[in-house]
Amino acid sequence: MTQTLNLTINGTARAIALDDPRATLLDVLRERIGLTGTKKGCDRGQCGACTVLIDGRRMNACLALALSHDGASITTVEGLAQGCDLHPVQAAFIRHDGFQCGYCTPGQIMSAIALIAEGEAGLDPERVREGMSGNLCRCAAYAGITEAVLDATRTMKGNAA
Ligand code: FES
Ligand code: FES
Repeated sequence: MTQTLNLTINGTARAIALDDPRATLLDVLRERIGLTGTKKGCDRGQCGACTVLIDGRRMNACLALALSHDGASITTVEGLAQGCDLHPVQAAFIRHDGFQCGYCTPGQIMSAIALIAEGEAGLDPERVREGMSGNLCRCAAYAGITEAVLDATRTMKGNAA
């Protein structure tokens, strides 16, 4: 039986007909909507490559049953830049070489945005590393990632002041 899934994705309302009620949010985003910026790494909640924001909270889209988030607002990496203006976290990742192959980067960036919003890590590198520990990087670009998150935290705090 086909069911309709209603989501607001990067600010656009979508009604998606789902044949399979077991579809994950990750597969809906990548295969039904064509938003392939969200990556599939492990598909079992271990790597963080699929991190998106669901109603502002970071979540592994590979573990999220799409239908259980009916009515939610989803933000993916494609929804961050405003035209040519990158989100401060995206810009900081570039400034600090927070990536090599880039495969983990969309998940890292989404997770960093949520971490900064949560306000738990602040400017403490150890807490940033802990807060980002659900996002693995096989290229081990961790030093740059931590610097980027700290830099973006400073920028975003400044913008909010
Ligand atoms: S693909 Fe979702 S956690 Fe790895
Ligand atoms: S930049 Fe290659 S996996 Fe992180």
